[in-house]
Amino acid sequence: ETFYLKDYTPFGFEVEAVALTFKLAATTTRVISKIRFAPKPDAADPRFFLHGEALNLIWAKIDGQEVTPQMVNGGLECTVPGQPFTWEAEVEIDPQGNTALEGLYMSNGMYCTQCEAEGFRKITYYPDRPDVMSTFTVRIEGSEKVMLSNGNPGTTGDGFAEWHDPWPKPAYLFALVAGDLINHPDRFTTKSGKDVELNIWVRPGDEGKCAFGMEALKKSMTWDEEVYGREYDLDIFNIVAVDDFNMGAMENKGLNIFNSSCVLASPETSTDANFERIEAIIAHEYFHNWTGNRITCRDWFQLCLKEGLTVFRDAQFTSDMRSAPVKRIDDVITLRARQFPEDGGPLAHPPRPEEFQEINNFYTATVYEKGAEVIGMLKRLVGDDAYYKALDLYFDRHDGQACTIEDWLKVFEDATGRDMTQFKLWYSQAGTPRVKVSESFVGDTLTLTFEQETAPTPGQPTKDPRVIPIAVGLLGANGDEIQPTTVLEMTEAKQSFTFTGLAAKPVASILREFSAPVVLDRQMGNAERAFLLAHDTDPFNRWEAGNALATDTRLRMVLNGAAPDANYLDALTKLVRDDSQDPAFRALVLQPPSQAQIAQVLFEQGHTPDPEKIHDAAETFAQSLAQALSDSLPRLYAATTVDGPYVPDAEGAGKRALNGAVLSLLSRLDGGAAAAKQFEAADNMTLQYAALACLLRAEKGADQSQAFFDQWKEDRLVMDKWFALQVATAKPENAAQTARALTKHALFTIKNPNRFRAVMGALAGHHAGFHHISGAGYSLLAENLMALDSLNPQTTARMCAGFQTWKRYDETRQRLIQTELEKIAGLNGLSRDTSDMVTRILEA
Ligand code: ARG
Ligand code: ZN
Repeated sequence: ETFYLKDYTPFGFEVEAVALTFKLAATTTRVISKIRFAPKPDAADPRFFLHGEALNLIWAKIDGQEVTPQMVNGGLECTVPGQPFTWEAEVEIDPQGNTALEGLYMSNGMYCTQCEAEGFRKITYYPDRPDVMSTFTVRIEGSEKVMLSNGNPGTTGDGFAEWHDPWPKPAYLFALVAGDLINHPDRFTTKSGKDVELNIWVRPGDEGKCAFGMEALKKSMTWDEEVYGREYDLDIFNIVAVDDFNMGAMENKGLNIFNSSCVLASPETSTDANFERIEAIIAHEYFHNWTGNRITCRDWFQLCLKEGLTVFRDAQFTSDMRSAPVKRIDDVITLRARQFPEDGGPLAHPPRPEEFQEINNFYTATVYEKGAEVIGMLKRLVGDDAYYKALDLYFDRHDGQACTIEDWLKVFEDATGRDMTQFKLWYSQAGTPRVKVSESFVGDTLTLTFEQETAPTPGQPTKDPRVIPIAVGLLGANGDEIQPTTVLEMTEAKQSFTFTGLAAKPVASILREFSAPVVLDRQMGNAERAFLLAHDTDPFNRWEAGNALATDTRLRMVLNGAAPDANYLDALTKLVRDDSQDPAFRALVLQPPSQAQIAQVLFEQGHTPDPEKIHDAAETFAQSLAQALSDSLPRLYAATTVDGPYVPDAEGAGKRALNGAVLSLLSRLDGGAAAAKQFEAADNMTLQYAALACLLRAEKGADQSQAFFDQWKEDRLVMDKWFALQVATAKPENAAQTARALTKHALFTIKNPNRFRAVMGALAGHHAGFHHISGAGYSLLAENLMALDSLNPQTTARMCAGFQTWKRYDETRQRLIQTELEKIAGLNGLSRDTSDMVTRILEA
């Protein structure tokens, strides 16, 4: 069944209030609902249909009279009165048997829920759609020590707890948690003086890993007050850490539920990257309280309304808490790694899709990350003041409503007077525009001519020109900025812009800060790139110049068997040795483009990527760089070592990143001696993990790997790292075999998504290993996806994306992948989630 945006019809009833009673029992939980419905007089669809899945209906009543509803596909229908009435029902569900981790399920003996997008229908019969909003009162009966739901606490007694959420919300924001939990408590006073109780709830043993998350939460609360004027609106805010979780975290009203990997942190067990990610996800879920909860989505086609905006907000937060240029560079690397392949392959869809079969398959990089890029462009086009004016209007006008992208764009039109018709194409057109730029300098005038083109995507053979904000600056011969950043607004398929009054030909810095999610096609000499790498006043474009040089060198190595470019090695070594430069920036410049990224660029340029050659070029390049830097590496390593106690802040992280990059080069020359010492001495996970990675890459880490295992075998999250790292560091020809052996390990379980992703995600992310010509990577992934599908369709479907780039490879690999995809497609009882993914991937 396919759902279409154009078919939207409102529900025919208001839901005035919802009361739920849960009688908890592992395999036989009873849910008793009492819901007040009022028919809408002008309803376009007067049917009384309630969603329901995997529910055992015990009885149902309308206004106290038992009724026999008609069971229909996906729910039930019932004849109801023409005036307001009370629906009551009791259902039985099986949380223990719920391995899909959607609805009410159990994780390590603890009850928890995940309802977004359509999990509430597995809890009770309900109009499970985001435009149906109501207040919820919840009573939980059970013997658990801690029993939580949304909103504010009510009466609690022996064997029960009551909760009331005064803010109307859609069912996808419902949550319940019950178990033997311990809290890390704190308090926050909002700017208007409201005192809020804060808690992070964890399993006993994890109490020591909550402090960082709590600080992140309080920083997020302050930041949203200061930057967006948004205050928290309940007496209590609870966060719960859960080990078995299909995604990162969930913004349930007043009761955020987190994958434990996205909230638990300690210096001994978490890396710098983990700390930064945890801070960002806590902020993300908290920010959803306004962008998602108080203002929600009318239907799931509008998902990017809340996700794109909230990702944009959490990126602003991280920029403010840490380094804005570093955050921007990291985000662009991720966008290119995750969203560009999606946009250029069989799964391409616009940020606001117009049809879907399974909404869970649309929690994508396009909806989230490109959705955030679209907001960034909007802000750049209208300017900061107008942006915040429009946001104020959005919150004023739409508080308590379920909205659309049209509502969102309308506040910008009303606040700025700007017509948003063309801008809206960013929401409706899929594909990454390719923007070709050419330059001419005549007299005193520089002319930049841009052409935009977007390749066809599934269902969209032709594209209209979009409005593209192109931030440009001009540099003089000495590296002085003669034209500060200005935003060119491209609206045509081909368009020129001029800069006059120039004494000499400047060097243009184009698409500063990555002002639009496009592929910039610019013919530029390496001398000019090296100049920008040295002098650009825009830090993003400084990095981009280095990245373009690195990419170019690697492409020539792959395509022509060239040697690593001497000039580039020279520029790179100069920068790395320059202690006046920011360590975080040096680390980023030293971080080579990933092999998958080189494959992506080859594909964008019309070549067939050869994973083996790409791998060999990466190795040769790193070895040459290590050699070119050989006299400086020991000094650099010593000089970048961070003294004093570990602090997970941006400054320390930047230094450790540089130190890690240097260690990895050094390990290519010293046989792992420095890494072994570092492993021995490490008192934090960042250093320990970096050292182990270097040793395993050098095939010298067997003892350390065992020591790491012995030290951390009781810590689930560190064990995930251990599993993943072995696959990630394997030689291409051993990657699949390593992963297969790990699936036989006593601590491997297919049922825990984190553990499954640790091994299978690392395999799919090992470019040369996954695409090894033996096909062993493909068949191992397929085999495991087929084993997981009946247990957990959501995670299975999501990981099918590992195959999405298959059409860009050679025929042999295509045939190998096609065989695996067809095997999956032919599996008996294949879930709708996986079937949707595999069908779309195969059809392209
Ligand atoms: N809304 C959550 C977040 O972005 C993610 C929920 C993902 N749900 C899903 N079915 N994949 O924070
Ligand atoms: Zn979100």
